[in-house]
Amino acid sequence: MERNLILLGAPGAGKGTQAQRLAARFGIPQVSTGDMLRAARREGTPLGKKAEGFMNAGQLVPDEVVIGLVEERLGKADAKGGFILDGFPRTIPQAQALGAVLQKLGRAPLAVLDVQVPEATLLERLGGRLSCPKDGASYHVKFTPPKKPGLCDTCGSALQTRADDRPEAISQRFREYNDKTAPLVDYYTKTGLLRTVDGVGELEVVLGRIVRALEA
Ligand code: AP5
Ligand code: MG
Repeated sequence: MERNLILLGAPGAGKGTQAQRLAARFGIPQVSTGDMLRAARREGTPLGKKAEGFMNAGQLVPDEVVIGLVEERLGKADAKGGFILDGFPRTIPQAQALGAVLQKLGRAPLAVLDVQVPEATLLERLGGRLSCPKDGASYHVKFTPPKKPGLCDTCGSALQTRADDRPEAISQRFREYNDKTAPLVDYYTKTGLLRTVDGVGELEVVLGRIVRALEA
């Protein structure tokens, strides 16, 4: 079965955390535009240089930059059996472009999962997040600490605080989410693909809810 999944949710909702687990469970790739852009920024590619200022300020990168990136990624062989989009689409034009790309590839989205978490909890999560610069894994100093302090469980890299987890950038990310991304909930409700998941609770509990929502 081809699982083409989209994870929607505010900054800190747990998209990356859950996408990583779903990818392992279903054997399909996690496609995170945030991780791809951060890798480009780290490598100093033209794309990374273009995206850097927007990302550090908590603003969305222009649509045309991310749409090209996703189109190329979904065309790769490992995405043939399905994929989990984490952080894309983020605007109505991105959602329309995704629809066109999937149609061109002869594919259809299976489900759009909206992971819902109240803002106070989002702030708590982003405030204590530690991120692996290499594989994109997220940890939290209090809720989900790494086994060895400061080091990624899977690859051993030194964990970092993301440049956009500063308070001013977090506020801007919430504004961008409310203005540009939240309208996607309506957009996908109209397609009949949207499923809402309560994102508050232990990681495994939230994962169970997502899996059940997919089976429903
Ligand atoms: P992106 O990387 O997508 O960031 P985001 O949407 O702000 O979301 P986050 O990654 O912060 O949160 P998450 O939902 O993945 O939460 P996580 O699992 O880490 O985008 C970054 C930037 O890139 C954008 O601002 C923009 O500039 C650019 N960009 C990316 N995509 C773009 C696009 N499509 N268009 C334009 N620009 C784009 O969890 C958060 C914390 O909570 C962690 O510490 C985690 O350990 C903890 N946690 C998770 N689940 C739980 C739980 N159940 N209980 C307790 N703690 C938990
Ligand atoms: Mg993320």
